[in-house]
Amino acid sequence: EKGGYEHFMLKEIFEQPRSILDSMRGRMIAESDHLMMGGIREYENKFAKAKRIIIVACGTSWHAGLVAEYLIEDFARIPVEVEYASEFRYRNPIITEKDIVIAISQSGETADTLAALELAKSKGATIFGICNVVGSSIARATDAGAYTHAGPEIGVASTKAFTAQVTVLTLIAMIIGSKRGMLETTKLHQLMVELENIPAKVEIALQLNDQIVEIAEKFKDATNFLYLGRGYNFPVALEGALKLKEISYIHAEGYPAAEMKHGPIALIDEHMPVVVIATKDSSYEKIVSNVQEVKARKGKVIAVVTEGDTTIPSMADYVIEIPETSEPLMPLLSVIPLQLLSYHIAVMRGCNVDQPRNLAKSVTVE
Ligand code: F6R
Repeated sequence: EKGGYEHFMLKEIFEQPRSILDSMRGRMIAESDHLMMGGIREYENKFAKAKRIIIVACGTSWHAGLVAEYLIEDFARIPVEVEYASEFRYRNPIITEKDIVIAISQSGETADTLAALELAKSKGATIFGICNVVGSSIARATDAGAYTHAGPEIGVASTKAFTAQVTVLTLIAMIIGSKRGMLETTKLHQLMVELENIPAKVEIALQLNDQIVEIAEKFKDATNFLYLGRGYNFPVALEGALKLKEISYIHAEGYPAAEMKHGPIALIDEHMPVVVIATKDSSYEKIVSNVQEVKARKGKVIAVVTEGDTTIPSMADYVIEIPETSEPLMPLLSVIPLQLLSYHIAVMRGCNVDQPRNLAKSVTVE
């Protein structure tokens, strides 16, 4: 049932070229500029007219929500708020009939996310669900929604569900953006072509596996890790850190790279591995300076870079090269080496990666 893999988590990481494809199947064909999602079709106008979109989720799904904030604001110019479901539901939030509330949940059973959604519904908001498990409680509670079609995720640490969520949210952002006339046709087409190429590029990123085993070997005994990223890669830094802590029990923190100098920089010395997601994008020059700041304090830099980059590799201790893609799609590629890194470190530390201590696949209590 693990398809020859040692753990479900590794199997699910390697399934991503396929699961990402499944999450867009029938919804997008670049060649004919076909872009359509059954679940939101009736709501397209409502989405296009929304003054605000609120996303509620927990954990990894919340990280997918953060990527969606960048995507929707970028493509559709609608303000987005991303909320931890547990905080949102208890702080007497301002919700009106004009709001669209999107819940993201792999299991569709997370108690806080479901309750946040029900609260939003009671205040008259349009509620929308992005779930992986078909027929789950959140899927049933919503007015409309889209399934991620990632297939069953057994490993407690979410991997393929995350990339499927991000794929579906990318499609939604593209649909709303074009409906609102904020995404011009050529840019939209280009994004569609790039998104279609993502599964093949994920396949290439997965070939880094052996190289990542070697890096994992070097850092398996670390007690702390810092993950830094900017822009679209900031949520990926948070996700990389979460993956590492939940399965390897190493303390890890993800930060927007520029926030480092407001505190975490004090932690950096020769014992601190710093994973920097430094792909060639609009914040590249800034992240080069952040890497210099880490190196000046003797931190060990593991950099995820775009193929062919030479600047960051000349500064970093370890370099992981991933294929180029358009900036808004980068999380789908940059998260792959981070999933593998946490997996191998956890295995080397003898941890039960598929069932980490204290964690459950569905958190049905608050
Ligand atoms: C992380 C992880 C958790 C879940 C969170 C939300 O790998 O598994 O952080 O992402 O419990 O779960 P869902 O998406 O089922 O609502």
